[in-house]
Amino acid sequence: MISTAEVERALENVIDPEIRRPITELNMVEKVEVTPEGGVTISILLTTAGCPLRETLTADITRVVSSLEGVASVQVQMGAMNTEQRAALQTKLRGGVAPKKNPFTQPDSLTRVYSITSGKGGVGKSSLSVNLAASLAAKGLKVGLVDADIYGFSIPRMLGVDTPPQQLGDMIIPPVAHGVKVISIGMFVEDNSPVVWRGPMLHRALEQFFADVHWGDLDVLLLDLPPGTGDIAISVAQLIPHSEVVVVTTPQTAAAEVAERAGHMARQTEQRVVGVVENMSYMVMPDGSHNPIFGSGGGEIVAAQLSEQLGYDVPLLAQVPLEPEIREGGDAGEPWAIDEGNSPAQQAIRNLADSLVHRSQDLSGRNLGISPL
Ligand SMILES: Nc1ncnc2c1ncn2[C@@H]1O[C@H](COP(=O)(O)OP(=O)(O)OP(=O)(O)O)[C@@H](O)[C@H]1O
Ligand SMILES: [Mg+2]
Repeated sequence: MISTAEVERALENVIDPEIRRPITELNMVEKVEVTPEGGVTISILLTTAGCPLRETLTADITRVVSSLEGVASVQVQMGAMNTEQRAALQTKLRGGVAPKKNPFTQPDSLTRVYSITSGKGGVGKSSLSVNLAASLAAKGLKVGLVDADIYGFSIPRMLGVDTPPQQLGDMIIPPVAHGVKVISIGMFVEDNSPVVWRGPMLHRALEQFFADVHWGDLDVLLLDLPPGTGDIAISVAQLIPHSEVVVVTTPQTAAAEVAERAGHMARQTEQRVVGVVENMSYMVMPDGSHNPIFGSGGGEIVAAQLSEQLGYDVPLLAQVPLEPEIREGGDAGEPWAIDEGNSPAQQAIRNLADSLVHRSQDLSGRNLGISPL
């Protein structure tokens, strides 16, 4: 006959879809009952009664428990945590860290933080951000993505996220899409209504994205920035001084002025520019030739100019061709880079993801957050 202990052990394999920890660890298993005939009843406590993921959780629990020998039937009952239980969970998730602290500025943080930036709009920052994030997650890394484009948010649609984040007290649990934990102001405004905030509000929103969102231990955090060099870029540099910058450009040679601005910004914020990505580099024609629709050479020029301006090597990290599937994937919430196949753009983005995780930690040009006494 199956024992409650065996069922409880099996439940250690059920992971909460959002918090990403075993439900047993989160004190979500309230009770397990087993009848002599092998009927198992499991009572689960959800963080909120309206938890949108109750069906996923029920299915996962049923699958895991019914595969045990001696189990004839599985019943899952859902209840909700009371105030004390929620507070206890919150404390547990914080792991002893005081509330309202930005985890990415803690000395022991191992998360690499990259801002995806550009001097001008529409060059593909958001598309690259979601495709890179999903590729990194597909490689098994723990990845977060912050939509730092407060006015022009586009990440929820591109990742196909339509569930609002759950709140646990003053803690925000980020939705997970394609393995990526993601947060965007678009999840908090109604019907895509525009956000009309001034600088200090933007700063506060970003601060909350870092400190109030429960990210857990991340390997990589990507920030999709708005175009240009405004308040948000400065806030990011202040909030996460060791974050590094990836500059996205198109192949137009006029992109040189982009380099000028990006370099100026990096010097001002004391952030390191890790490299340049040229997007929309060319289109592969039916005969296999490359059509440079938006010109060529921009990426090389920007990389060379930034190296000269900043005094260290700023490489051209990738050239991503134009492929209609990138736009289609963005519209459908299905990042093209993790789709099956091995197109030139998919390869370029996957290689870029590799190079970002395998870079050695170089401290030159980097703000270490140390101020003289
Ligand atoms: N390599 C590509 N191939 C085809 N379409 C692309 C590619 N990269 C981006 N796009 C498309 O170009 C448009 C602009 O891209 P995206 O929104 O990612 O740019 P952005 O730099 O984030 O823009 P903004 O500055 O407005 O935030 C989108 O429709 C996107 O689908
Ligand atoms: Mg964008």
